[in-house]
Amino acid sequence: MSRVFSGVQPTGDLHLGNYLGAIRNFVGLQDDHECIYCVVDMHAITVWQDPAQLAPHTREVASAFLASGIDPKTSIIFNQSRVSAHAGLAWVFNCVARMGWLNRMTQFKEKAGKHRENASVGLYVYPNLMAADILAYKATHVPVGEDQKQHLELTRDIAIKFNNDFGTEFFPVTEPLIFGEATRVMSLRDGTKKMSKSDPSEYSRINLTDGADDIATKIRKARTDPNELPGTEALDADGTTLRSDAVAERPEAFNLISIYAALSGQDMAATLDQFAGAQFSTFKGELADLSVAKLGPIGAEMQRLMADPGHVDGVLADGAERAAAIAEPILRDVHKIVGFLGA
Ligand code: TYM
Repeated sequence: MSRVFSGVQPTGDLHLGNYLGAIRNFVGLQDDHECIYCVVDMHAITVWQDPAQLAPHTREVASAFLASGIDPKTSIIFNQSRVSAHAGLAWVFNCVARMGWLNRMTQFKEKAGKHRENASVGLYVYPNLMAADILAYKATHVPVGEDQKQHLELTRDIAIKFNNDFGTEFFPVTEPLIFGEATRVMSLRDGTKKMSKSDPSEYSRINLTDGADDIATKIRKARTDPNELPGTEALDADGTTLRSDAVAERPEAFNLISIYAALSGQDMAATLDQFAGAQFSTFKGELADLSVAKLGPIGAEMQRLMADPGHVDGVLADGAERAAAIAEPILRDVHKIVGFLGA
């Protein structure tokens, strides 16, 4: 049977990119897969986190999972640090992955920036822990936004090298699931930059807990260009995906159109058809209404859940027990394969 695993960091301020690129896709997968969704608190501390905020931020992500429609009875929701197999397997993978592989990771380069020598060692080996998250459950499918693609390729390389080194077929070669009309949501202030919680401008992103007024204001202030909205001539020959040259020319316009398509559940062609030739003022009004209608109830439910930490903590504790019951025997098998005495 196929098993789905994915993770979200509790670093505060979950945004529309997290929702459309990942969390929303987690929900539908529950119907025909065994799903494990993790709040990756150990990944979060690869950069400084205020200890007083880590628990509330962990509850925020768990609340977003629940408010979006993840069912904690059929799926497993837990926080990473509770299941020690993640750290245990990550150590083995630190010894499988090669320095050269990690040196190619663009996200490390972006996050470490000019202060590479000062970055934590954890930030450098972050992708090995991510591979351990997935493979501790022998997960076959991993839904993520496009920015995680390179990390998932590394996960595949680690599984293949482990299997080769030890002459086994132990780990599956995981498939990334990157789907929907908004796999890479861009900043509302600059269509060439990814929407991200580290952007200093609040107007660059819509947070999942934003109220209706904030959502509408951020959309009204979103950067656009002076032209009318494009039509289906912006599509590739296949008629379903946007032409990259069209997006490069008008990144802000296509970002907003992609957000509309993703939130409405309409495909790109239908969305382009709907607004071809319209003014941005009209389109932004429609986008604001749609965003408030779709995100408002999720934000409100998140607020309600976050006000009831006992319930969320119970979900996470129960999930951790069920997760450990899967991961621990897999880690024991890994210890045997590696040859540890006592395994
Ligand atoms: P994180 O916490 O940065 O983001 C969580 C999810 O949101 C997606 N995402 C986006 N999608 C579209 N547009 C955006 N602007 C955008 N920003 C974020 C991410 O792709 C991700 O799917 N390394 C992971 C967490 C992780 C993980 C794992 C994921 C740890 N272990 C194992 C999958 C499997 C991360 O930093 O996500």
